Amino acid sequence: MAVGKDTIFDRFLSPLIRLAIDEAALERFYQSIDWEPAADRHRQPNLVYPEYYSSQNFHGIQGGYLNPHAAVSYDPITQYVLPPHETVVRQGLIDAVRVKPRRILDLGCGTGSTTLMLKQAFGEAEVIGLDLSPYMLVVAEIKAQKAGLNIEWLHGNAQSTSFPDASFDLVTASLLFHETPTAASRAILRESFRLLKVGGQVVILDGNQKNLRQTEWLTEVFEEPYIKSYAAGSVDAWMGAAGFAAVQTQEHWWVHQVTQGVKPLPGEDFDRVGVAVGSRDDDRIPDFGDDLQGFPAPA
Ligand SMILES: C[S@@+](CC[C@H](N)C(=O)[O-])C[C@H]1O[C@@H](n2cnc3c(N)ncnc32)[C@H](O)[C@@H]1O
Repeated sequence: MAVGKDTIFDRFLSPLIRLAIDEAALERFYQSIDWEPAADRHRQPNLVYPEYYSSQNFHGIQGGYLNPHAAVSYDPITQYVLPPHETVVRQGLIDAVRVKPRRILDLGCGTGSTTLMLKQAFGEAEVIGLDLSPYMLVVAEIKAQKAGLNIEWLHGNAQSTSFPDASFDLVTASLLFHETPTAASRAILRESFRLLKVGGQVVILDGNQKNLRQTEWLTEVFEEPYIKSYAAGSVDAWMGAAGFAAVQTQEHWWVHQVTQGVKPLPGEDFDRVGVAVGSRDDDRIPDFGDDLQGFPAPA
């Protein structure tokens, strides 16, 4: 499998994680699914993939998330790359929810780990997970079925969904923005604003931009084409620019941050950006070869 560059992950972490992963079990899982028909059940035939998404490798996987190998290996690796613990990190997003949501949209839901936690936390709510990768949605659906959780999985682009205006109380995204160019992240926040009812909340969990800026090697760990521009930017400034009020970012276990905002009444006089973390105004199956090349390094 083609690998784009020799990252710290490839050189140091991959051999360690490889020791911890049950590759035979991953292979069995991969072989247990007839991927194309399974993906076809989600695939929206008219969906046009953004250029940033379809033209690059992510995490050393050729084709990025448009490759079933990415979907199979995502969870086994993610558990090792979200300190201090994956569930604790994702819980930071859940804990930031201030609304009582009846309808929740999780953008860039991937294999649905945060989406499942949202459904567990807000059992009465209708929960929808949306992602550009039909393969990630295949895995997400299997996980939800195993957990007995009723979640809708939708193939779509978070920058431009087909939902009507003001149709959600809560829009979330976890670990999405460090993988999208700044223009796409800003477009996703504008779309989130459109989708939320007045008083609705947006919550974004991702890497801590301030600390990523100060610790450059962290941006070199994985093959992440947009992580440097993500680190240079400011989710809370982008959120404010999208129209959100009461915007604030909380540092979460140093490496991560949780940013939230509320859709105000039109013309409401809110302090648009309240910043807790320093910010700037500018704006998975492995290839089973001899090393972990081909294993994505999610998050
Ligand atoms: C690092 S994964 C995060 C997945 C999941 N949210 C999590 O917390 O584990 C990023 C996901 O975003 C998806 N993605 C990237 N750009 C997207 C877009 N414009 N619209 C929808 N999904 C997108 C990818 O397919 C991938 O599944």
